[in-house]
Amino acid sequence: MKRIFLILAAALVALATPAAAQTITSPNGQLSLTFSLTDSGVPTYAVDYKSAAVILPSQLGLKLNGAADLLDGFAAGEAVKSTFDETWEPVWGEETHIRNHYNELLVRLTQTATGRQMNIRFRLFNDGYGLRYEFPRQKRVSYMTIEDERTEWALTGDHYAFWMPGDYDTQEYDYFESRLSEMGQIAAAHVSTNASTTRFSDWGVQTALTLKSDEGVYITIHEAALIDYSCMHLIYNPETKVFTSWLTPDAIGNKGYIQTPCHTPWRTAVITDDARELLASRLTLNLNEPCKIEDTSWIKPVKYMGVWWELITGTNSWSYATEGNIKLDQVDYATLKPSGTHGATTENVKHYIDFASKWGCFDQLLVEGWNIGWEDWFGKHKDFVFDFVTPYPDFNLPELQKYANERGMRLMMHHETSASIRNYERRMDEAYKFMVDNGYNALKSGYVGNIFPRGEHHYGQLMNNHYQYAIEKAAEYKIVVNAHEAVRPTGICRTWPNLIGNESARGTEYQSFGGSHPHHVTILPFTRLQGGPMDYTPGIFRMDLTDIPGNSSKVLSTLANQLALYVTLYSPLQMAADTPENYERYIDAFQFIVDVPVEWSESRYLSAEPGDYVVIARKDKKSSNWFVGGVTDENQRTMTVKFDFLEKGKQYVATVYADAPNADYETNPEAYRIVEGKITAKSAAKIFMARGGGFAISIREATKADRKMKNLIIK
Ligand code: NOJ
Ligand code: CA
Repeated sequence: MKRIFLILAAALVALATPAAAQTITSPNGQLSLTFSLTDSGVPTYAVDYKSAAVILPSQLGLKLNGAADLLDGFAAGEAVKSTFDETWEPVWGEETHIRNHYNELLVRLTQTATGRQMNIRFRLFNDGYGLRYEFPRQKRVSYMTIEDERTEWALTGDHYAFWMPGDYDTQEYDYFESRLSEMGQIAAAHVSTNASTTRFSDWGVQTALTLKSDEGVYITIHEAALIDYSCMHLIYNPETKVFTSWLTPDAIGNKGYIQTPCHTPWRTAVITDDARELLASRLTLNLNEPCKIEDTSWIKPVKYMGVWWELITGTNSWSYATEGNIKLDQVDYATLKPSGTHGATTENVKHYIDFASKWGCFDQLLVEGWNIGWEDWFGKHKDFVFDFVTPYPDFNLPELQKYANERGMRLMMHHETSASIRNYERRMDEAYKFMVDNGYNALKSGYVGNIFPRGEHHYGQLMNNHYQYAIEKAAEYKIVVNAHEAVRPTGICRTWPNLIGNESARGTEYQSFGGSHPHHVTILPFTRLQGGPMDYTPGIFRMDLTDIPGNSSKVLSTLANQLALYVTLYSPLQMAADTPENYERYIDAFQFIVDVPVEWSESRYLSAEPGDYVVIARKDKKSSNWFVGGVTDENQRTMTVKFDFLEKGKQYVATVYADAPNADYETNPEAYRIVEGKITAKSAAKIFMARGGGFAISIREATKADRKMKNLIIK
């Protein structure tokens, strides 16, 4: 449970000074934030970093439907400054202790003409800021319908950006890298409007968005604590160099419904001149509420395998019978003939359990396609698709759960909702109870396809409330949740740590749908992962999928790169995504997946540059072992890893899994080598990363048996 070591909160009410202009600085003095009201009563803020402007005066406010806007005409009331310093223990995370230290400014505003009150709260950390709108209980207003939010980020130059196009329904894009001024042209040329999704503008981008100025300052814009509100996108104006918030609309075009007293999510920016500090930032988590689950002892990180990749690659199918015209409510499965390609059969599941349980490191086995309904689910845009409680006739659930339990594992549940949230909410209690009754405690859920009710979007307020409802409901049943296709995370896992994963970005599945650009995994930690962990599903060992009928894809990554992802893409939920057969081919490399933990006590960000490379070292929570992962983009690089994070005076054994000198993600992706040798805190190693490659290192303390082992040399 959370234990708060130190809380320091001092409130200074600056009653003498009206809020009209107020400045706060970060605890280390490097950032300063100034709030001011313009002559026409428009609230604005600006931010300096190391005495230079990073955010120029930027406007704040909301446009309302059916009521006067909350954009101008404000008069300043009191300003309250305070400071806060605590250290909290996450249930799981990249470290065991997180410091939450900021200076705060709360400005109270009243719109003179309407008498409505709107407060703006700013929190300034050493690594960035958060701001949000707060509406106290008040006589003049209770309900508000949001036409749009008008929060601005006015930039100082034509920064380099790591971005993906705006879309109300998916983030499963490859990232683009370009100057801000080039985004519109690139989006027009390369982003096709997909009928099942809704790209709203060539200028719109999604958050977290990472920028780099010519002066070498990084800015990551995102939001924190997205609760009961629509997900924010950003619209860029190349003329003014201003980003403005743009919320996801609902089916009738409104962007949100709020009722006082209430507040918006935090609008955030992490600001630093060292890319490694972006990775070390805990600003998003710190802006979320402390844990609301009293007893968290049942929430455990999970390493898992699954009957999954064979479905994604098209080797086998989710459905039991031939797909197409079998209506779930009209069919008697007992009378149907199986197609012969069903993946979730009792026999096949046992085969995976036999392989996975041998290693003693896998907690669970995910089984997709276990339940009836898959013959007629895709793109149907209808309410009733799955019931979440009826197994296919060839999937013997009690027998399999027992089989797994006897081998130290459990089955992991899968609920594909086909985005029919009404159906899912109606059945949720029964579905979760079914899990508990059948020995499940972890759930992968999914929201593929158009939303039912029609016209709603995956990232609108209605859906966000649904995802939140599912998390809180699952907590009642002591179930951990990993939701795919849900809104991208905003640090809610601090408050609800049973949200142990999300997809909400382009995961490994796309390596089977044409591939993902190698730079993808060098951008995710700076963008998508800022909000919370991703169920990326790494660990593919067989890169050429073209001999699978109907699949023409190649995995655009080397095998060593796949291993590195267990360290570089932090998640308390990690999958070994490939099949037993593919792991058997390279069982010495599989040892890294067996050894790498999912719980860490400490993380060190050794080298990082968005879009280029990431090297991270992490210490196992349960031992003195360390693990290092490094990935590169489409360029080969040689990295020097210094082992100075190790305890001084101790001898360690390092096992390095590296790209072979002739490895290449396009021409020779499975070529790797394993080198073992002794190291100390004074050692360093030069490690080659092929194009699309990487490396993984496991480090343990040396024992007497290692006496004769040579020092680590990678030739
Ligand atoms: C998309 C998910 O990302 C994938 O992991 C899952 O297998 C399919 N939907 C089916 O639910
Ligand atoms: Ca997906």
